[in-house]
Amino acid sequence: MNRQNGAERPYDVVLFGATGFVGALTAEYLAAHAPEGCRWALAGRNRRRLEELRDRLAAKNPHCADLALLTADADDADALRALAESAHVVASTVGPYVWYGEKLVAACAEAGTDYTDLTGEAEFVDRMYLEHDGRARETGARLVHACGFDSVPHDLGAWFTVRQLPEGVPLTVDGYVRTNAVFSGGTFASALTALGRGPQMVRAAKERRMHEPRLVGRRARAPQGSPHFSPETGTWALPLPTLDPRVVERSARALERYGPDFRYRHFASVKRLPMALGGVGAVGLLAGAAQIPAARHWLSARVEPGTGPGVQRRGRSWFTVRFVGEGGGRRVFTEVSGGDPGYDETAKMLAEAALALALDDLPATSGQVTTAVAMGEALLERLTAAGLRFRVAAVR
Ligand SMILES: NC(=O)c1ccc[n+]([C@@H]2O[C@H](COP(=O)([O-])OP(=O)(O)OC[C@H]3O[C@@H](n4cnc5c(N)ncnc54)[C@H](OP(=O)(O)O)[C@@H]3O)[C@@H](O)[C@H]2O)c1
Repeated sequence: MNRQNGAERPYDVVLFGATGFVGALTAEYLAAHAPEGCRWALAGRNRRRLEELRDRLAAKNPHCADLALLTADADDADALRALAESAHVVASTVGPYVWYGEKLVAACAEAGTDYTDLTGEAEFVDRMYLEHDGRARETGARLVHACGFDSVPHDLGAWFTVRQLPEGVPLTVDGYVRTNAVFSGGTFASALTALGRGPQMVRAAKERRMHEPRLVGRRARAPQGSPHFSPETGTWALPLPTLDPRVVERSARALERYGPDFRYRHFASVKRLPMALGGVGAVGLLAGAAQIPAARHWLSARVEPGTGPGVQRRGRSWFTVRFVGEGGGRRVFTEVSGGDPGYDETAKMLAEAALALALDDLPATSGQVTTAVAMGEALLERLTAAGLRFRVAAVR
């Protein structure tokens, strides 16, 4: 076992936010897949809801009847300190993270506890870098944000693609995302929050750039691409300014294997032009509405927190991320794909990332690190075994 965080603690993994929509799916995944002997616990703000969840889990797996329940509010620093000190890894689904996330990150950084979450909020990730990366490096805590569909398939997919290309030469990778999925109340609330905080996000990114050490002798970039028809995928490609390209860029900064000059671009991939234009219009309208508090409030009341797509809808959902990598005279086409990205696969990714941090022999890292840097091969193997597909489609 990889034990960077000191003496024996009661739990290998604590799942915080276990009673939420994706939290409960993650708990179900752990109930079915945590290996024997793995000590994990459910945490949340409401004891009664935790007991109900434990009963539901125990109905499927009797071992779960003994799961420990830990209560803490996201605002209660003392309770979060106790929670962080009780675990080797805390996985949190409590968002929007920019509102509810910081105190837990602080507690984990202080306690030398590994931390994973599902944030896709760039401002939150940059703020946590500025506030807690230094302390986490001192205590040995690994702070791994974005362990769901944001940004695991993109980060590990780019890493997988890079490893199909020659070493020591400039490389480019373009990622094209397609999905038919719908979102939960929690995701909608987080997206609206992020869209309504553009200036704060820009400020946090700028401060981070001022503090982050410069790369010496290498380059790693993730510039925004322009809309185009991609003959490689046979689809329209629209630049996707999510957290994902930033995460890929950070992996490239940290790992020499990405070569002396690495560039990543990230696109949404849409079959028909009218759909592409409709998508851009809808996001533009949402972003505009998110700037007006009353409109934001009205919109967030349309989708209830704690709710999300049902089993049947999730069963019909899928995603693919196609990558085109080039360098050293070689061109490679790879693909990462799976089922319902936002919930079933996200629960799997978060649970497997937490298990990897708790149980696997990983590279020695600390501070804010990406999934590729903290867990690379181990997480890729875990997710492949759990049904996600990483494949090389063609090499030219
Ligand atoms: N990365 C990805 O691809 C991805 C995919 C899915 C979701 N997400 C993100 O994951 C987060 C959760 O999504 P969701 O759909 O599961 O949302 P949700 O159903 O609304 O769940 C939110 C959870 O946070 C808990 N919570 C809220 N305020 C709290 C507080 N003050 N103290 C302690 N716990 C508190 C809730 O507790 P109660 O149960 O007691 O209400 C609930 O467990 C969102 O930020 C979403 O954007 C990311």
